[in-house]
Amino acid sequence: MSLSSIAGVLGLLAAGVVAAPTPGCLFDPLTAPECWDGVFNLQSNYYTEGPKNDPAKARVYDFKLTNITQMSPDGVPRSVLAINGQIPGPTIFANWGDTVIVNLENGLDNAGTALHFHGIRQNNTVGADGVGSITQCPIPGTGSSIPAGSNKLTYKWVATQYGTSWYHSHYGVQAWDGLFGPIVIQGPASAKYQHDLGALMLSDWTHRTSESQVEEAALFGGGVPINNGLINGTNVYTKDGVTVGKRFEMVFKANELHRIRLVNTAMDTMYKVSFDNHEMQVISADFVSIKPFTTKVLSIAIGQRYDVIVNASASGGNHWFRAVPMLDCGQHDADLDVRGIVRYDANNTAPPADPETPPTFGSDCKDMPTTQLVPSLEINLTNVPAEFKIDHDLEFEMHFDPETSILDWRNQKVPYYSPWEYPTLQQVLDKNSTFDPRQQIIQVDNSREWIYALVRTDPGTTHPIHMHGHDFFILGQSDQPFDPATFKPQTINPPRRDVAMIVDSGYLVVAFQTDNPGAWLLHCHIGWHASEGFAVTFLEHADKIETIMSEEQKAQLATNCANWKTFAKEKEIKQHDSGV
Ligand code: CU
Ligand code: CU
Ligand code: CU
Ligand code: CU
Repeated sequence: MSLSSIAGVLGLLAAGVVAAPTPGCLFDPLTAPECWDGVFNLQSNYYTEGPKNDPAKARVYDFKLTNITQMSPDGVPRSVLAINGQIPGPTIFANWGDTVIVNLENGLDNAGTALHFHGIRQNNTVGADGVGSITQCPIPGTGSSIPAGSNKLTYKWVATQYGTSWYHSHYGVQAWDGLFGPIVIQGPASAKYQHDLGALMLSDWTHRTSESQVEEAALFGGGVPINNGLINGTNVYTKDGVTVGKRFEMVFKANELHRIRLVNTAMDTMYKVSFDNHEMQVISADFVSIKPFTTKVLSIAIGQRYDVIVNASASGGNHWFRAVPMLDCGQHDADLDVRGIVRYDANNTAPPADPETPPTFGSDCKDMPTTQLVPSLEINLTNVPAEFKIDHDLEFEMHFDPETSILDWRNQKVPYYSPWEYPTLQQVLDKNSTFDPRQQIIQVDNSREWIYALVRTDPGTTHPIHMHGHDFFILGQSDQPFDPATFKPQTINPPRRDVAMIVDSGYLVVAFQTDNPGAWLLHCHIGWHASEGFAVTFLEHADKIETIMSEEQKAQLATNCANWKTFAKEKEIKQHDSGV
């Protein structure tokens, strides 16, 4: 073997693996993606340290929520909710360490709202987590006797993580009538790229509003059929041989590296995605940079994000980007056609051809294997219980063992309920510890450093489990029933993220460190299921909440609740769901 071919082989092996950051190095996506600002880099522990950019230079966004009675994302007109008139809403851009301020105005005259920044850790800023009934009352709308300007609320938080996420309403099912948008936080990366194409949001879509179907969904086994999917808010729809709408398109530069930030924002659809004739190099899972791996097909559950790098190495032409709904979970109309077009030349408008061997997608709703989701910043866990002994009745639907700090949670039989007009945070500030059992509060105080949650599901059901206020560590995930006798937790650099799947009689074991005072939801991210009450709240270090909130934040919480009560009363708004 010649020297150059050895170098070639080594070069291939090393492709995608970035060097350890050199001290003082600065970020460049092509030559030094592992670096950042000369102080912090890919190897910095962003849970405890990171850039602290001048709060006076905060990224400020003014969002206005309105109802648009005629909008046709897929060519079929319907009533939608939109932020600043668009679906998805505007992208929140920030750099790692920036302060972000979002001023949200509720322009609806018949509903409240609340905006959640999915995956944002909200370290010591629980008041900005945006869950109506937990961290705030809903923001009242227009047309009542409350003072002018009271239909607004300010969210302020610090981007302590970097990567890709999304914001969405956490009030009713508004998120799935259009109230969502991307979050892009620039920071170091685990592989090289040249172009950042931004967020690629995969949604699902119904031709009647989600709001008008939510009660039906609860009656009919937790969902109603989804009619279509959207890619960045657009797609085509074909009925009786007539096609309306417009496909999403993107342009690649030949032989260059494109970073694409995939986000699944769906109500009830797990997607597998693929770019015909291209591979994806996956560099992050949710807000966690991972050691790159290459795949042709990537599964992405509701709420999850994957950042991928695509080398435009095909021989020019046009190619399909496919987002295939998985049929083992969710309810869908037949043959949903969710595809976009990748063009190497924007002027070449010919339709793509199918490749000779199209990729196979299957129908399962499993996450990518945990062995592929290896965090770049390695964190090993010590003190994890060697055994996850379950000595209570296995049929118990929720059991927290104070001795072991293990929550055992099965399909919820007492649905979650938290009242809009009295959010958990206000209750804590009032020192009122009389919790309604339906609030499903698990108190986490100073005596526990780590919490473990074992989430299990019944045969034939599948749920994307999401945590607020933390990335969780995945200690185990399986499609087989949990067996305490054989379970061995993964403690060496387990995957970390904020959404993971449990499928079909299987289980998920996650852990999180109790380092963030607040009231944090752990819930299923299927829109219908959250609305029906598949959720619990970890009330973490309740005694510290009063001190971490500024007087201004406490005043905003109280004033907004007073206004909400007046608005809700005058408009006769009744809470008919879980409140989250
Ligand atoms: Cu969230
Ligand atoms: Cu979310
Ligand atoms: Cu669910
Ligand atoms: Cu949530």
